[in-house]
Amino acid sequence: MLIGIVAIARNFAIGKDGKLPWYYPADLKFFKETTVGNAVVMGYHTWKAIGKPLPKRLNIVLSRSANLENRADVLLLRCKADVLALAQYLKGDLFIIGGAKTYENFADVIEKWIVTEIPETVEDADAFMPKDFLDGFTAEKTIELENGLRVKVFVKE
Ligand SMILES: NC(=O)c1ccc[n+]([C@@H]2O[C@H](COP(=O)([O-])OP(=O)(O)OC[C@H]3O[C@@H](n4cnc5c(N)ncnc54)[C@H](OP(=O)(O)O)[C@@H]3O)[C@@H](O)[C@H]2O)c1
Repeated sequence: MLIGIVAIARNFAIGKDGKLPWYYPADLKFFKETTVGNAVVMGYHTWKAIGKPLPKRLNIVLSRSANLENRADVLLLRCKADVLALAQYLKGDLFIIGGAKTYENFADVIEKWIVTEIPETVEDADAFMPKDFLDGFTAEKTIELENGLRVKVFVKE
């Protein structure tokens, strides 16, 4: 299944200066538990921000121009069509993990959204989700994390 996973502030902010504008260990732990054993797809900016492959996952990095050294757990692909072609051969789920451009590019094929609600408004953010990104999705369940964080899962109608 193709799943979008995102942490989002009250004003739909998701990033600032190329990084996450907050630090919530409970959400990072949830992200890890949810994605381990599967494939994750990220845009080149997010790859640079993370700085290393996420362990125990196939890391698919999207870029039209950048180059990466080949490794068993990191795959550089050039376009969305290549990701979707590969997805047919994967056993597990394919998580779209950002950032903004990558979510936007895959919005029409995402079947499920896993959304952590960050209880903050980030005034000077520079990366946002579109306000309507959950149109056509229905809330399936809510997961309570530590420190009062809440994750909502939405499935395509
Ligand atoms: N809150 C969250 O859950 C979350 C999650 C992830 C990231 N973020 C934040 O989001 C921000 C980064 O977002 P962003 O929009 O700037 O960057 P991004 O989506 O991480 O990367 C964009 C780049 O990825 C490549 N790319 C994306 N779609 C492609 C496609 N269909 N085909 C080929 N290449 C493609 C392009 O690289 P080239 O230009 O090299 O071709 C593009 O410039 C950061 O602040 C980060 O911290 C937040």
